[in-house]
Amino acid sequence: MATVAPVEVHNRLFSVYQVDAFDWLRRRRQNSIHAVVTDPPYGLLEYTSTELAKLKRGRGGVWRIPPSADGAKRRPLPRFTVLTDRDKNALRDFFGQFAEALFPVLVPGGHVFVATNPLVSHLAYGPLIERGFEPRGEIIRIVRRLRGGDRPKNAHLEFRDVSVLPKSCWEPWGLFRKPCEGRVQDNLRKWGTGGLRRISDAEPFRDLIFSAPTHRSEHRLAPHPSLKPQHFLRQIVRAALPLGRGTILDPFMGSGSTIAAADAAGLKSIGLEREPEYFQMAEGAIPKLAALPATPPSRTRTSAAPRSRRRS
Ligand SMILES: C[S@@+](CC[C@H](N)C(=O)[O-])C[C@H]1O[C@@H](n2cnc3c(N)ncnc32)[C@H](O)[C@@H]1O
Repeated sequence: MATVAPVEVHNRLFSVYQVDAFDWLRRRRQNSIHAVVTDPPYGLLEYTSTELAKLKRGRGGVWRIPPSADGAKRRPLPRFTVLTDRDKNALRDFFGQFAEALFPVLVPGGHVFVATNPLVSHLAYGPLIERGFEPRGEIIRIVRRLRGGDRPKNAHLEFRDVSVLPKSCWEPWGLFRKPCEGRVQDNLRKWGTGGLRRISDAEPFRDLIFSAPTHRSEHRLAPHPSLKPQHFLRQIVRAALPLGRGTILDPFMGSGSTIAAADAAGLKSIGLEREPEYFQMAEGAIPKLAALPATPPSRTRTSAAPRSRRRS
């Protein structure tokens, strides 16, 4: 793992550090984080320096340009079908180490939201459960993208009626909780955690969220290859702190979209990013993303052809 000079930026509601997440977690005091909302490297491989260099060169590796259907310019997406058994074991190991480092730092009843992909989610979930986190379901982000649904490569004319994989229309976010101390009500009183904040008096938080790919205006502010949209993240960060108090951690913040969402929602957060380039991007992008108006996309828009083509 690359060693980077420690860089810190603090504001009234958030602090961000250019640091390796594992190093930071191992030094952090116990019971000092109230929730985690994160979009880690799904396949691990795609954020290694070798693969990032290939992404920049635009040639080979795990980052591929999806096939064009309407002449629009495509942005690279990581392909998870190329993972070897060794890559899969490394991924299990990564989430095992993450769970071990996080467990003492999170307060009892703290929730962990982890973005993943249907092809690799089991490799992330298993190690978290084995290290003591309770599975609390999955948030399904309905979002239509361009991945999957293609006919067999070099035999598409012969097998016109066949798709190799289903076309991807959703993104799973695993939901986990560190066990509560006693009943949920006791835990809420002591730690301020254990449940999820309701949308309103009449509406509980739901595990199905209609979304849309990240809007191009957000990509312009934060050109990270995996930028998540503010309209979605603002719903998640709000749910993560049931009483609206405490600190949310994003240990793999990329360009800081979770931190921006927390800031927009008036919640405290901490973001960690190892890559200097993405950390600098986050420094500039967080206040700008946080200042964007909350404009949830309509369902009609979601079911129409997506405008943005990244894994985001
Ligand atoms: C999927 S991206 C997150 C993108 C983010 N959701 C956004 O909207 O910009 C995962 C990020 O984790 C970072 N990362 C990978 N391993 C890390 C580690 N050990 N410590 C800190 N950051 C790490 C990568 O550099 C990458 O930017």
